[in-house]
Amino acid sequence: MKRDPSPAMPERPRALTSPVFLGAVLFLLLLTAAVSHAAPTHLNRTNVKGGCSECHKGHGKKGTSMLAASGGKELCFRCHSQFGRASDIYSQLLKLSTHRILETSMYHVKGEQLPETDGFKPRHASCDDCHNVHVSEKNEGLKGLRGYRGGGLKSRKIEYDYELCYNCHSDSANRPSQSTDISLDFAASNASFHPVVSFGRNAFVPSLRKLSPSSMIKCIDCHGNDDPSGPKGPHGSIYKPLLKYRYVQTPGPESPSSYDLCYSCHERSSILDDESFKAHKAHIVFNRISCAQCHDSHGSRFNSSLINFDVNTVFPNSLGQVSFQNAVRGKPRCYLSCHLNGRIYEHKLDQKLAYTVNSKTVPQW
Ligand code: HEC
Ligand code: HEC
Ligand code: HEC
Ligand code: HEC
Ligand code: HEC
Ligand code: HEC
Ligand code: HEC
Repeated sequence: MKRDPSPAMPERPRALTSPVFLGAVLFLLLLTAAVSHAAPTHLNRTNVKGGCSECHKGHGKKGTSMLAASGGKELCFRCHSQFGRASDIYSQLLKLSTHRILETSMYHVKGEQLPETDGFKPRHASCDDCHNVHVSEKNEGLKGLRGYRGGGLKSRKIEYDYELCYNCHSDSANRPSQSTDISLDFAASNASFHPVVSFGRNAFVPSLRKLSPSSMIKCIDCHGNDDPSGPKGPHGSIYKPLLKYRYVQTPGPESPSSYDLCYSCHERSSILDDESFKAHKAHIVFNRISCAQCHDSHGSRFNSSLINFDVNTVFPNSLGQVSFQNAVRGKPRCYLSCHLNGRIYEHKLDQKLAYTVNSKTVPQW
């Protein structure tokens, strides 16, 4: 049937029913469907040509994953190494500071429950602890994992990266004595903390660049690959402990690179211009103290401003005090004795209750 185009008929309905238009819509619908339901990376034949059989072989043995190589990591390195066709994770594991996957991944047991409740199980990290290759997607390397929020609360699906870390870095029964329960550092009941698990406490953080006091940050903003052009993730770094940027934690001269980690989010000029603490420059530049002598990079249980003095440098003063009091913003009073570069700096109140450092009153403090 041929229809005369009636001039009274509006243009749009005609265009909508045209076969070319419908074809285009169908094409777009299929395309968006294909994109939003993109197959997980490793189940997509353009990435893994051989499909399941690139990683699995045989007809099945009860209780095994029938993997084509012994131990998950060798399987992964078929592609994720210098000679493979995917991002080179192997080389990351040869750096100074790593998740010691090469040495400990054989202790991973399929189906294990984390955090570990058996104190005798060997402590480990394997690729399979942090990735689910059947589910992960581009830029969603942690998709399909279970996590832990601390305090007995498990999550079936990871929402924040710290939930992955807490699987091993919180109250695991097999955690060695030298590594701490990181969930205590970030607990909402602490006096201060970097905003990883909860929003930060302090509305006045003038040094922040790109971020604001209401921003949240991640463990992997600080812990990860030192090489920004290499594969992302906390696999290996030349800076201990697995830091993305350099951070000198012992006393020494200030430079942009010595505190690069902090300066990646906090403007160096703001810190050294004393926008918050009125004696930042005096301590950092003139007395050559690292941020780490005063600040904890995670959180502080009892003090505001992440103040947690370095026990190798800070001792009780002659009155037996080690404390931090910040009644006046920017001009806090510290009661302590600081042993630094061969000298002692005694901070205390004198008999007239004036605030002094080595018996000299601190002006306008
Ligand atoms: C990139 C490698 C890789 C590919 C491709 C892959 N798998 Fe797996 N598969 C694994 C690994 C690794 C495990 C063991 C996971 C663990 O131990 O936690 C596993 C475990 C399994 C298991 C055991 C149960 C489970 O979920 O842990 C089954 C079943 C399975 N895979 C089926 C498949 C099928 C079917 C395909 C193809 C559609 C496939 N796999 C593709 C790596 C792969
Ligand atoms: C047959 C090759 C092959 C094997 C084997 C393989 N991968 Fe991959 N993987 C890829 C490709 C290709 C990509 C996408 C490009 C890239 O990241 O290099 C990828 C990406 C990833 C990503 C990034 C997130 C994503 O899903 O895109 C993770 C995480 C990952 N692989 C983990 C693993 C782990 C863990 C194993 C071992 C259990 C493994 N892969 C084994 C080929 C492989
Ligand atoms: C499957 C367990 C596991 C998971 C998950 C895990 N780690 Fe670890 N991590 C370890 C082990 C084991 C060590 C070695 C020290 C120890 O036993 O505590 C370690 C050490 C570290 C170190 C110290 C490295 C050094 O050179 O001293 C950092 C930093 C670290 N992990 C950060 C993280 C972060 C961030 C996450 C989450 C993205 C994470 N870890 C997730 C097991 C894990
Ligand atoms: C990934 C970004 C990032 C990095 C890296 C970073 N910070 Fe922060 N920091 C923040 C954010 C966001 C806040 C704001 C939190 C708030 O408002 O309480 C903050 C707040 C602070 C505060 C004020 C906290 C309070 O409660 O008063 C101090 C002190 C601090 N950072 C010190 C450091 C030091 C020292 C380093 C280096 C070891 C560092 N930061 C590295 C993002 C970062
Ligand atoms: C603002 C940067 C920053 C953030 C965010 C951060 N870390 Fe750290 N982390 C550091 C620095 C610096 C050190 C080394 C100094 C120290 O021990 O305080 C460290 C030390 C560690 C260590 C080794 C020392 C120990 O006590 O065992 C582990 C493990 C660790 N962090 C895990 C985590 C986890 C898990 C998260 C997230 C819940 C996290 N970190 C968030 C900067 C950060
Ligand atoms: C302790 C946990 C942990 C372990 C163990 C681990 N990864 Fe990762 N990996 C991560 C995290 C977290 C990311 C995501 C980083 C991001 O998105 O910034 C990641 C990212 C990746 C990526 C994507 C890199 C990119 O540039 O996008 C690949 C590929 C990968 N991991 C492979 C592996 C392989 C292979 C192993 C074992 C040799 C392994 N991972 C072991 C935590 C881990
Ligand atoms: C002598 C101890 C000391 C040293 C060293 C020190 N700080 Fe502070 N910092 C403080 C005190 C005290 C405050 C809180 C002042 C107030 O609000 O009353 C503070 C506040 C901050 C704040 C929050 C407010 C703001 O400026 O945005 C940041 C961020 C910060 N310091 C970063 C650093 C960095 C980075 C370094 C190393 C380069 C460093 N600090 C070295 C004592 C110190």
